[in-house]
Amino acid sequence: MAIHGEITPPPDKSISHRAFMLGALANGTTIVRNSLNSEDIKSTRSALTALGVDIQKDGDIYRVLGLQIKEPIQVIDAGNSGTTARLICGILAGLDGIITLTGDSSLVQRPMARVIKPLELMGARFMARKGGYLPLSIKGGNLRGIFHPMEISSAQVKSALLLAGLKADGQTTVNEPSASRDHTERMLGYFGATLSLSQKSVTIKGGQKLEARDIIVPGDPSSAAFPIVWAAVVPGSEIIVRDVCLNKTRTGFLAILERMGAHIERANVQDRCGEPVGDLIVHGSELQGTTISGDEIPSLIDEIPILVVAAALASGTTVITDAKELRVKETDRITALVQGLSRLGAQVEELDDGLIIKGQAQLSTGNISTFSDHRIAMSFFILSMASGIDIHLDNSKCVNISYPTFFMDMERLK
Ligand code: S3P
Repeated sequence: MAIHGEITPPPDKSISHRAFMLGALANGTTIVRNSLNSEDIKSTRSALTALGVDIQKDGDIYRVLGLQIKEPIQVIDAGNSGTTARLICGILAGLDGIITLTGDSSLVQRPMARVIKPLELMGARFMARKGGYLPLSIKGGNLRGIFHPMEISSAQVKSALLLAGLKADGQTTVNEPSASRDHTERMLGYFGATLSLSQKSVTIKGGQKLEARDIIVPGDPSSAAFPIVWAAVVPGSEIIVRDVCLNKTRTGFLAILERMGAHIERANVQDRCGEPVGDLIVHGSELQGTTISGDEIPSLIDEIPILVVAAALASGTTVITDAKELRVKETDRITALVQGLSRLGAQVEELDDGLIIKGQAQLSTGNISTFSDHRIAMSFFILSMASGIDIHLDNSKCVNISYPTFFMDMERLK
């Protein structure tokens, strides 16, 4: 059934994490407006609080009192949040003291060597579980700048090194094969730091001071992607998505949907606190399969599960490659998608670094293992809504990681 209506997606998760962290590193009191209040952001707030940062809630806003981070007396728990764990490593690498970091049963299986190795080259010392996994302990201090060519593009690794680079002697340069999200670079600039940027590398000079700011978090394109795909795949639908971050390093999925035949208009685009923000008007139509690979992968890495749903409902075949990183997200998302789609009767083939989906197969009712992954749960819910088949999710509470009002918001579009 076609959907109509207006929706304001929840505040951006990546930008909310960074607003609290940079606020903690800045001189003065940072005000964070419209921050996301999800499980992952609670992990960042409680990690910072454990590190001595005073974060005060005042109605709808948060005040973060800067320059208070000190060696904690307890273990820091990053919960399910990879962004919290990896960015905090970058901050703690510059702190004179010892801290121990852990996470939930998913996070302790996610690779940390990608931040440990370069931070060790900068002078921090780590003790981690065999293979480079949480729990780990860091002894920070006395950092020196490095040049780090990343093998795999990762905004979390890049951000950790930039935050450590801020406290290092000399300059730190991070180079990535394809551009990943650049919120840290933009926000560091907004907080008064100078960075030099080229298309695939960023350099920061150590010793720069950040100044507290007033920051308004825009809507999360990754969360908006769920209703956007729902509207885009059902002909006759029309929805307006308000106040969403339109940073190009995040909106690769819009380009893919347009390539598949979707009609998406952009309106009221403006700059806010260093990020482009605007409205989207999405019109439903018949979509066709496409190929998704190479440089565009980092700009849509979190949207692949919902793009796979679009592909399953589109005509023709969709091929996704160069996306091996999906195997080390909150769960192995390639396996989770292939297993779930196969259970519903979809035609899908697993690749080492992606998947092939033959669209418009006859789907049937089924039970889905979400592996407690928020984006897997939301993707299969949208598949159920858009196709009209009953799908039972084994865990629907996991949406609270990034989108606590997901089911309520989707209900209003029906
Ligand atoms: C994020 C970066 C991406 C993304 C994650 C959020 C960030 O991870 O998948 O959901 O906020 O920096 P990687 O850096 O591992 O690619």
